Amino acid sequence: MTIIEIIEKKKNKQPLTKEEIDFWITGMISGEVKDYQVSSLLMAIVLNGMNQEETFYLTDAMLHSGEQVDLSEISGIKVDKHSTGGVGDKVTLILAPLLASFGLKVAKMSGRGLGHTGGTIDKLESIPGYRVELTREEFMKQVQDVGVAVISQSGNLVPADKKLYALRDVTGTVDSIPLIASSIMSKKIASGSDYIFIDVKVGNGALMKDLESARALARTMTEIGKRYQKKTVCILTNMSEPLGYAIGNALEVEEAIQSLKGMGPEDVMELIIKIASFIISDTENISEEEATQQCFKKLNTGVAYQKLEEMVHAQGGDLTKLEVSNRIFSVRSPKAGYLTKINALGLGEIARQIGAGRLTKEDKIHYQVGLVLRHKVGDFVAVNDELMRVYLDDKDVKVNDILDCFTITEHPVEKEPLIYEIID
Ligand code: URA
Repeated sequence: MTIIEIIEKKKNKQPLTKEEIDFWITGMISGEVKDYQVSSLLMAIVLNGMNQEETFYLTDAMLHSGEQVDLSEISGIKVDKHSTGGVGDKVTLILAPLLASFGLKVAKMSGRGLGHTGGTIDKLESIPGYRVELTREEFMKQVQDVGVAVISQSGNLVPADKKLYALRDVTGTVDSIPLIASSIMSKKIASGSDYIFIDVKVGNGALMKDLESARALARTMTEIGKRYQKKTVCILTNMSEPLGYAIGNALEVEEAIQSLKGMGPEDVMELIIKIASFIISDTENISEEEATQQCFKKLNTGVAYQKLEEMVHAQGGDLTKLEVSNRIFSVRSPKAGYLTKINALGLGEIARQIGAGRLTKEDKIHYQVGLVLRHKVGDFVAVNDELMRVYLDDKDVKVNDILDCFTITEHPVEKEPLIYEIID
């Protein structure tokens, strides 16, 4: 067997066997299979797809490319949550402590920003002192004692994904259902939790641009979860406008804190309550209505926020030192009308350009910069109303580029739903 034969086979739309996929992944890790050969195979997969069986073999080969975390010494139900990536998506910062405040154990490894989408680890690093790397012992102890720890992915967890992702990012091979499903599920299975909840974002700011492909991705991932006897649930949610108001690291942490105190933006609160009450009702065997009531109680009494404080403190961070930039300017509406579109992808790119994300691997994040929307889709704005506040550091942005992300029309349009469906 040679890698060239495998590439040819996929080029000719034939399914790959388990042996061929194992050969590719082990050869890639050892260096025998070269980056240009992997890139060629990735493109053949993007164009010709993979069936369910091949996608499972790929997930399994990636899973076995490195270590797996054994959480069995931690008591209780271990829950993991993942998002396929969006703009303003601060859900993990809110959901993880909220779930832990119910006694669930959240042992979470998160990623950094990718393309125009933000990453939880970059957001947490905006908290002065916060350590995203813990030793195995520190991680286990914190999950057992505090109930929640959020760290960056440990060095040898699914190294095949690190390699593949870096190549996909620069070869136009990110948007493929089998590649996304195997990337996410190999990491989730390797992280060792019992219950996996995945937020599949749909829309212009997401990887999946339409509902049909989001559904197919969700079904592929739940099917993979089933093979490992892991409860896997996907929620399909709208990412055509940014989630909440804040985009950018420290600004999003601020919004997450408000949300944990029960005072977050309407869409953020709706999503958090939906996901948390689904998981609580499922794991505690109570109705979703009862779980919803309990979630509101945890938020409104400050218990959920306290969990965030405990987690941040345990990881060396100090929320009182969180800072946002004071170089601020306002973008105002040139006309009156209804906001019918806010381009999440466009704003994600602008946030990245002003330093909230990276344009090259070497770039340093400016944690205090970002964008804060003053209105959401559906709102009426008058001439000169503030549409957005921009928090800058040393980079500038053109006002017209920001205005291009807003569509204002004479008549209102029906707002799209935030939550489409749950695939269980
Ligand atoms: N998130 C991941 O972890 N992998 C992908 O391929 C896409 C989103």
